Amino acid sequence: MERTLILVKPDGLQRALSGEIIDRLEKTGLKISGIKLLRLSEDIASKHYEEHTGKPFFEDLVNYICSGPIIAMVLEGPNAVEKARNIIGKTNPLESPAGTIRGDLGLEVSRNLIHGSANISDANREINIFFEKHEIIEYKRSNEKWIID
Ligand code: RTP
Ligand code: MG
Repeated sequence: MERTLILVKPDGLQRALSGEIIDRLEKTGLKISGIKLLRLSEDIASKHYEEHTGKPFFEDLVNYICSGPIIAMVLEGPNAVEKARNIIGKTNPLESPAGTIRGDLGLEVSRNLIHGSANISDANREINIFFEKHEIIEYKRSNEKWIID
């Protein structure tokens, strides 16, 4: 089953929106297979965002993601990557439609609350940065047949 990496960014925790953010994602039916609270080092943050190395916003991005604790989460389900990105919205909250996390809860691109992997290969790479194998738990939910056909 497909997996994606979600981060509730420091602004999400500081604004007490982690419950709301997780709630919206969990209610889709995607299953939490890993979750933890952590504070990123500059090294790990730069590795996570390595595709943006050298861009004008890179330093601010790394400082932002390291500025406080975050929640890292692995979500699992059919098309987990695309589904989570749809719920999250566009990179800039201003361009994110109402009903999305960034559209409803954010104002600026540099404070956009949440990260979701962009594609399956990024998801696998990012999950390996944040989670050891034993921290991802495989389990069945009793109502799964009502969520996944
Ligand atoms: P993310 O990786 O955090 O889920 O966001 P994303 O895919 O929607 O956007 P991406 O292009 O990967 O950009 C990563 C993060 O960098 C910040 N950003 N700032 N100031 C700017 O123009 C700018 N552009 C991007 C955002 O925090 C974005 O989420
Ligand atoms: Mg991205």
